[in-house]
Amino acid sequence: MVTTTGSNEFDVVVIGGGPAGYATALYGASAGLSVAVVEREKMGGTCLHRGCIPAKEFLETASVLRTVAGAKEFGVEAGQPVLDFSVSQGRKQKVVDTLYKGLVGLMKGRGIESFIGSGQLLGGGRVRVAGAEESVELTGRHVVLASGSVPRTIPGFDVDGTVVLTSDEVLSLEKEPASVAIIGGGAIGCEFASMFSDLGSQVTVLEALPTLLTGCDDDVVAVVNRSFRKRGIAVHTGVTVSGHSPNGSGTTVSFGDGESVTVDAVILSVGRRPLTEGLLADGSGVVIDERGFVQVDEHMRTSVEGVWAAGDVVNTPQLAHVGFAEGILVIKGILGEPTIPVEYGRVPWCIYCHPEVAFVGMSEGQARAAGIDVVVKKDPFGGNSRARIVGETDGLVKVVCEKSADGSAGRILGVHMVGPWVTEQLGQGYMAVNWEATPDEIAQFIQPHPTLSESFGETVMALTGRGLHLG
Ligand code: NAI
Repeated sequence: MVTTTGSNEFDVVVIGGGPAGYATALYGASAGLSVAVVEREKMGGTCLHRGCIPAKEFLETASVLRTVAGAKEFGVEAGQPVLDFSVSQGRKQKVVDTLYKGLVGLMKGRGIESFIGSGQLLGGGRVRVAGAEESVELTGRHVVLASGSVPRTIPGFDVDGTVVLTSDEVLSLEKEPASVAIIGGGAIGCEFASMFSDLGSQVTVLEALPTLLTGCDDDVVAVVNRSFRKRGIAVHTGVTVSGHSPNGSGTTVSFGDGESVTVDAVILSVGRRPLTEGLLADGSGVVIDERGFVQVDEHMRTSVEGVWAAGDVVNTPQLAHVGFAEGILVIKGILGEPTIPVEYGRVPWCIYCHPEVAFVGMSEGQARAAGIDVVVKKDPFGGNSRARIVGETDGLVKVVCEKSADGSAGRILGVHMVGPWVTEQLGQGYMAVNWEATPDEIAQFIQPHPTLSESFGETVMALTGRGLHLG
């Protein structure tokens, strides 16, 4: 247990040191509040240790491998690349450890107190921290619940860490499996499918719903689907997984109408559930909904005065940056400043499979389903000069606008991208959607040439009725 001031009373006690928890703490401390964070493992949470950061690091390894394998096309003879997964693991761990040290240093520098142990809200602003050897009680004028989430599992698939894995175990594998079945074709499933395929594994994706990446725009999903199939990833959608039979070194997964696939490993990526076990003592008064999420209002206030919640433990998009935004909202609320609730329908989404996916706002399908008349434009990356230079032309930018009374493209409702480095290009789309801008306004912006981001500019310009390269 670490305590540096001896005082156990704080303006804010945060339970959970993941993105939502540490953002709350850092923002609160920079506003002059005294803050304690209770974390049972390591500061940084799932995102830093078992999620976003290690996953993206491995996806970068996959990208390097792809680049070297395709070097010949550029006249660069590099031979057939060979993967040494232990070196990849080492590099990933170095990235994680460096960021971890940076975070701990940052928190210390801001005067945030860290308590290592399991936090439990007792009531009346009191939090018990059960450490490995001792327990301590803290008091917060405000308490923030940010205990995060854990992978969901499915009946019949007991996670053993060698044959049946979740994202928790995948990211510390010592060797890449030669073949893998991925159950669930959402964000995590598609990132792992892409990564393992690029690393040389034979990949099968089994998804219960009719498409991969449900919630993404249909045109975007079609590009990912095409790319996956072209790279030999077997994608089965609309299938039910009925069980599996281990065979010593691997297992045979049964699905659909009597079909099966024999693989070295199975990865479950069927969503994440909120982690609230032990979080609340009896009589804490905090309400948990029927799905296990801590119930909050749009300002992140729970049912108990002075108790707030943020991040994956509440029923909002399970994204680190949403946790950041919610943590900031909590601190502004504590300070009594005017707050604007997070608009969950307009948060940025980035999925780092190859090709990458990035979007904000309504898809064409969602807009039409909401009864909105739309004007839509798409610009394939095939016509983008930088994409040609880079050699990555699979993908497109799609902009969805509300149709104005005169039939022209009005307010921009959604921006959807799939292709090279789109996760780094979404910013302009995010601004456009959240500013409720129209194509006429956004088309004024000059896009540097040649860049991948010109495709967004071209699409918006074409929506004004006059385009340069796009009609
Ligand atoms: P998800 O909810 O995005 O996808 C899970 C998929 O599994 C769904 O398509 C669902 O239909 C399918 N599924 C559920 N049960 C199944 C079964 N028995 N058989 C076959 N398919 C089944 O959840 P995922 O991918 O596990 O991610 C968890 C959370 O983390 C999500 O909220 C996701 O958005 C977030 N996340 C976001 C990332 C990003 O934005 N880059 C990366 C990783 C996670």
